[in-house]
Amino acid sequence: MLNFSKCHSILITGANRGLGLEMVRQLLSTPERPQKIIATARNPDAAEELQALAKSHPEVHVVTLDVTSDVSVNDAVQEVKSIVGADGLNCLINNAAINIPCYLDTVTRDAMMKTYEINTVAPLFVTKAFLPLLREAAGQGSGMGIHRSAVINVSSLLGSVELNTALQIPFFKLYPYRASKSALNMITRSLAVDLEAEGILCVVLHPGWVRTDMGGKNGELSVEESISSVLSVICGLTEKDHGEFVSYNGEILPW
Ligand SMILES: NC(=O)c1ccc[n+]([C@@H]2O[C@H](COP(=O)([O-])OP(=O)(O)OC[C@H]3O[C@@H](n4cnc5c(N)ncnc54)[C@H](OP(=O)(O)O)[C@@H]3O)[C@@H](O)[C@H]2O)c1
Repeated sequence: MLNFSKCHSILITGANRGLGLEMVRQLLSTPERPQKIIATARNPDAAEELQALAKSHPEVHVVTLDVTSDVSVNDAVQEVKSIVGADGLNCLINNAAINIPCYLDTVTRDAMMKTYEINTVAPLFVTKAFLPLLREAAGQGSGMGIHRSAVINVSSLLGSVELNTALQIPFFKLYPYRASKSALNMITRSLAVDLEAEGILCVVLHPGWVRTDMGGKNGELSVEESISSVLSVICGLTEKDHGEFVSYNGEILPW
């Protein structure tokens, strides 16, 4: 049974559809759920399913957040600060991302830069902006995990350099996406080194190949299957996972 009772607040970026929305849904169906589920979307007015959840569940706070805009990020920090108060923020999940499918013959500079901006640069700057709230929470607990303070960056197996061989994962040579997730992995590892002394847990998480708009209809997992495993992994994170590349099934993945 999932127990989020000690994680008072959790923030998920890109929570209007796909895996982010399913995280909100499943958290709400957990009896021991966080008191504050902050679901961000760049266009909340169009996020009908999320708005419907928020309407029937007072724990859900829908906050506008375009992860590429400093103004939007700073406004979101102020709003979240007023939601979480002196408790700070226990768990930040950088989930929002894009995939512009292109290969060696079709990749463009623009696709590389745009993907980097959203998948790599944005999670770093969103994390930096929310650090005061994460530090506030970290200062009130001990050990490591979502009961205290955690940054979870949703990455992908496709970001693994070691697994990018003709034998391991010979398909999906998506240059922008793979490179952006590898770089996100490195950023997370650097955050893990920098934030360890403050007790802020940092991990990269692979949610599996999932049937969403991004994963497509051939994905191996449904959103329900992926997120029930992902939430159980997130729940069990401890210091031993700090700085690791964790899969939805709990396996530690190679960089
Ligand atoms: N699905 C898979 O098979 C798979 C596999 C490995 C890893 N992942 C990772 O899992 C995470 C979620 O993927 P998904 O399958 O749920 O993707 P998805 O269905 O395409 O959803 C992507 C989410 O990111 C949001 N987003 C994109 N750009 C944004 C921006 N600038 N600001 C704020 N939000 C933005 C989207 O919002 P809008 O609706 O406004 O565009 C949407 O909510 C991603 O990090 C992805 O790389 C997915």
